[in-house]
Amino acid sequence: MKKQYKLLFEPYILANGAELKNRYVIAPMTTYSGAPDGSVSDQEMDYYNRRAAEPGMFITACIAVSKNGLCFPGQFIGYRDDIIPRLRELAQTIKQQGAKAILQIQHGGRECQTDLLEDGTPVSASAVPSPNTGVTPRELSNDEIEQIIADFGQTTRRAIEAGFDGVEIHGANGYLIHQFFSPHSNRRDDRWGGSLEKRMAFPLAVIEEVKRIRDLYSDQSFIIGYRFSPEEASEPGIRMDDTYTFVDKLANQGLAYLHASLMDVESKPRSGSRMNVTRAEALRDVIGDRTSFIALGSIHTPDEALAVLEKGIPLFALGREALMEPDWLAKVAEGKEDTIRTQLPLDSQEELIIPDGMWHAITSRKGWLPVVDAK
Ligand SMILES: Cc1cc2nc3c(=O)[nH]c(=O)nc-3n(C[C@H](O)[C@H](O)[C@H](O)COP(=O)(O)O)c2cc1C
Repeated sequence: MKKQYKLLFEPYILANGAELKNRYVIAPMTTYSGAPDGSVSDQEMDYYNRRAAEPGMFITACIAVSKNGLCFPGQFIGYRDDIIPRLRELAQTIKQQGAKAILQIQHGGRECQTDLLEDGTPVSASAVPSPNTGVTPRELSNDEIEQIIADFGQTTRRAIEAGFDGVEIHGANGYLIHQFFSPHSNRRDDRWGGSLEKRMAFPLAVIEEVKRIRDLYSDQSFIIGYRFSPEEASEPGIRMDDTYTFVDKLANQGLAYLHASLMDVESKPRSGSRMNVTRAEALRDVIGDRTSFIALGSIHTPDEALAVLEKGIPLFALGREALMEPDWLAKVAEGKEDTIRTQLPLDSQEELIIPDGMWHAITSRKGWLPVVDAK
């Protein structure tokens, strides 16, 4: 291994005291390949198994916490107890190779695919059409909101029963929690919306419930992370200064880590009071030493990962790169970083152990991954 990469391999203690064997996190990635009954499929198990030896922490694909939050075809579900045995096998598969196993918990809100929903209409904070699907959701009632908060808690209970080391609350990428924080999708004027403070109420209530369940069924060693997207292009939309206020609040919630969802870790804010530094650096400064922080986005080489750590951000995550190169860290360890794959050969599905639904998604959606014909 080249000396300068030593930091990538250094253990790290999360804010809740859990020890990670290194600084590498695998980002949550939906597989579109769950079993028909909503449990973890064999193909998914193989996918996780192939990658679990490397990272200090492995965040799973997002699991649906509520029936009306099922978002993608082949998404696994977290709202029934009968899925716990397969979740237990998944947690085991990841943990036995030395990585912390984190279940990402999600409600899709207005982004849910309509044919997956019982009444065909997605729900959201307000009846504002999704810019992605054009579908107008139904506004949730107060009772329904309380139910979804409870659902996040119950999926956390199942994660604990299944032996996961923790959960990550999916507050990013335009799904329900994000929809409550965004002034684009949240036009409410009750306790769940109307001001920046009130747009934080739903995410904070979910965090409270997840912590309550942790305290009932586990202890502080159970990791609770929170993922967020810092900015939106839409008008109105989440602005960087809103996010600084929100992240400042999040950093006081006693979470084990915060995780910024970025497509490019070197990207700079579009707006706000800190335009001269990258988003990741600005967020690092707001968080300070109150909790741990994960940044990611288009990191492919060990030099790019090192650049994140050298900015004082303790953990980096790989998403697409971990799909293309399951042996990423091993290659760095062996001084073979020049052989790290940064493109996806179209004949490599079997070799890379990528489930069918995921393979279809990443090879058919233009520009998502750099796809090349063959090895
Ligand atoms: C196939 C695929 C599925 C994804 N699914 C999720 C998901 O379930 N939850 C989530 O928070 N982000 C999801 N993401 C976003 C990634 O976690 C990550 O933020 C994004 O790919 C940017 O990081 P990267 O440049 O390292 O890939 C997904 C990305 C990909 C490529």
